[in-house]
Amino acid sequence: MSDNNKSVAVTKGANGLEKLILRQLHGSSVETFSFLQVYLYGAHVTSWKTEQREELLFVSSKAIFKPPKPIRGGIPICFPQFSNLGSLEAHGFARNRFWTIDTDPPPLQPNVTNGVFVDLLLKPTEEDMKIWPHSFEYRLRITLGPGGDLMLTSRIRNTNTDGKPFTFTFAYHTYFSVSDISEVRVEGLETFDYLDNLKSRERYTEQGDAITFESEVDKIYLSTPSKIAILDHEKKRTSVVRKDGLPDAVVWNPWDKKSKAMADFGDDEYKHMLCVEAAAIEKAITLKPGEEWKVRQELLTVPSSYCSGQLDPSKVLQSS
Ligand code: BG6
Repeated sequence: MSDNNKSVAVTKGANGLEKLILRQLHGSSVETFSFLQVYLYGAHVTSWKTEQREELLFVSSKAIFKPPKPIRGGIPICFPQFSNLGSLEAHGFARNRFWTIDTDPPPLQPNVTNGVFVDLLLKPTEEDMKIWPHSFEYRLRITLGPGGDLMLTSRIRNTNTDGKPFTFTFAYHTYFSVSDISEVRVEGLETFDYLDNLKSRERYTEQGDAITFESEVDKIYLSTPSKIAILDHEKKRTSVVRKDGLPDAVVWNPWDKKSKAMADFGDDEYKHMLCVEAAAIEKAITLKPGEEWKVRQELLTVPSSYCSGQLDPSKVLQSS
């Protein structure tokens, strides 16, 4: 696809893995464009830059771009399970399979025609069906909007011919790039219940204040609102997650000890990342044969201003 303002190109990335580059020009200068980079391995978005040329996603300098290891950073897709339960691999297998470009996807409603997009497809192989015995079609549309926003629309269909339903959990495991984790606040999750992964998924209620970070965090917030804001004081930037059909939200930062234990993550990199993951975890999704599940995550970024020494998140959440 290509016109004067937008383009999609296929090229080789790390270790010769195929990747797609989506560009959206803004204004008349060819120098002003927003940008997405997507690996077919995992249908994995590894770079998102707005027209200001700022990178908004974190990818580890130690990320291993080699199957079967998922890429550490960007936006891994967790399907057909979030977590590390049972015999399925941690966070499912969608993030470490090769997806294909879907040249003839069924129409997507509403059909957003502005922006530049690519459609990707994952179907299970015979090997996959040995570990998860279900037939499915997973269609992912990745869109770079005219304003530089990033949209991921997932459509998962049960194509079992044996009449059996299947059940799954899901997350867009987005790694945001932040200036300094101790300067970051997350707004939109306060007062909500969460399961604490660091305490055997015990249930707690978040207190009234915005979430700030001073140690390891691994929480699954339940039935959360559709907008969550990540306020980065130092970068004077707020990233907003808008989610549709995804009730839960995971917040994860491994902090120092766990960072050192991860081979594909730098010891100090936890300072510069935060995962906020739009998810469906607490209530697993069940699809009967022929049924389809459709969900969406939209990410956008807005400059934030200081208000009495602090960012004013309510304004951000209202205006975006
Ligand atoms: C988060 C989980 O979503 O992903 C954490 O809540 C987990 O428990 C983290 O450690 C990273 O998982 P992985 O499989 O990519 O190392």
